[in-house]
Amino acid sequence: MRWRSTAGAFVLAAALAFTVVMSAALWPRLDAARAQPPGDALAALKARFARPSFIPHPASNPPTPAKIALGRRIFADPELSATGTIACATCHDPRLAFADGEPASKGVTGRPLKRHTPTLWNVAWSPLLFWDGRAPSLEAQVRFPVEHPDEMGSTLDNAVQRFSRHESYVRDFAAAFPDAEPKISPRTIAQALAAYERTLVSPPTRFDKWVAGDAKALTASELRGLAIFAGKGRCINCHNGFAFTDHNFYDIGLPGDDKGRGAEIGLAAADHAFKVPTLRELAWTAPYMHDGSLATLDDVVRVYETGGVARPTRAKDLPPVLRLTDAERADLIAFLESLSSETPPQPSRESWVDAAPSIAPQLPADTSVVSQADKLFHPQYVRIRLGQPLTVLNDDTRTHNVRIFDPRFDYNSGAQEPHETVTLRFPAKGTFEAFCGIHPSMRLTVVVE
Ligand code: HEC
Ligand code: HEC
Repeated sequence: MRWRSTAGAFVLAAALAFTVVMSAALWPRLDAARAQPPGDALAALKARFARPSFIPHPASNPPTPAKIALGRRIFADPELSATGTIACATCHDPRLAFADGEPASKGVTGRPLKRHTPTLWNVAWSPLLFWDGRAPSLEAQVRFPVEHPDEMGSTLDNAVQRFSRHESYVRDFAAAFPDAEPKISPRTIAQALAAYERTLVSPPTRFDKWVAGDAKALTASELRGLAIFAGKGRCINCHNGFAFTDHNFYDIGLPGDDKGRGAEIGLAAADHAFKVPTLRELAWTAPYMHDGSLATLDDVVRVYETGGVARPTRAKDLPPVLRLTDAERADLIAFLESLSSETPPQPSRESWVDAAPSIAPQLPADTSVVSQADKLFHPQYVRIRLGQPLTVLNDDTRTHNVRIFDPRFDYNSGAQEPHETVTLRFPAKGTFEAFCGIHPSMRLTVVVE
């Protein structure tokens, strides 16, 4: 039996009242819809971790039960590999929390892969996929493992040929894609897999019960751990939101030659930066980090305590120094473990998982100056006239990288240091989407009229 106490909640509230006020300026603004009354630090903290109310399926790939079932079938099918022996599920094993427990997985050639296999929990919310963000969507991600010579060593065209020989696949594709022609194609294979992967939502744990109002759901030790997580550990600067990731890229100081995001976008300011992994179901997904180099949560916390490799790219969101007593370290780890299920986890079956997306309509702001404070474009939706320049001001403490990938306007600001402004001149009328190459959770929509 665990010892649970409401007294812990008061300790936490007191600790937070201080740290919340101290670090409020660093924290992203709350989703307006979820904002809590000011002054209620505990409620504001809970709101940051509240579970979502829908899965963000893209309009271009709406989910149906038939499509998701087909995706699940393909995911488990080794026919996708050249040898007929390796499935997606070989490395992302549904019985092992969609990871495989190995520092480096092996595919068709038996050669260990360069990077560790991440879990697939909560990938629906990740704007970019892979440790270095090289895939822009789950649909686009599919061909990478299929074509990688050491992973599956095949092609989606091969998969089309193989699946077309099975009557049951012909039937399943027809049910999942009644309007597509041809029914079995690289596109429909990728869409079915992506629709299935978006349903891999980590299930609620005791932590979610606590967020929902059950003060006894966490032990006193876990609550003290949360106070460190949200306070002096500054973990919440990056591990934020219900999945405990802001989906951005940071250098946390791990040694190694892998340049991660920096190599991918050709930007030295993003060297050694990797995507923040979800902290959900950690107890089931060891070992940790992009290189699988850390075997236990104790090893992980000690890396944050030593501070890692001191180099210019080391994230400013990390605490400059972190000193923990043995008891504090144990509390922090106890808190991290409260984010894991007590039996092998299966995808959430909460009712909202099947709910239709609901997005409140927004109106664009008429302004030609956009701020980047606290890793957010503000405003996020602006309207300007054709010919009017748009100024993006880096009033944040971090380096940013404004990008637009558009056939009409290909824009890359390069490293935009704090205090630097960049000026965008849009060549045409229309709607343009900008994002930060280092913090891709930052999104800006510009309507040029
Ligand atoms: C041989 C092992 C292996 C196989 C097979 C494999 N993967 Fe992966 N997967 C990995 C590794 C390793 C990474 C991380 C690679 C990187 O980031 O550079 C990864 C990353 C991913 C990611 C990105 C997750 C994130 O949070 O960014 C997704 C999604 C994914 N795989 C889905 C699939 C699908 C779908 C299949 C089958 C078509 C598949 N994988 C097959 C090993 C594998
Ligand atoms: C600057 C942003 C940032 C801060 C602050 C931060 N992390 Fe992380 N965390 C990351 C990134 C990025 C990774 C992946 C790094 C890699 O693989 O190279 C990571 C990885 C982890 C992992 C491994 C997860 C896995 O599945 O591999 C754990 C556990 C973790 N962090 C816990 C913490 C704790 C506890 C704190 C506070 C003491 C913390 N983090 C502070 C960005 C951050």
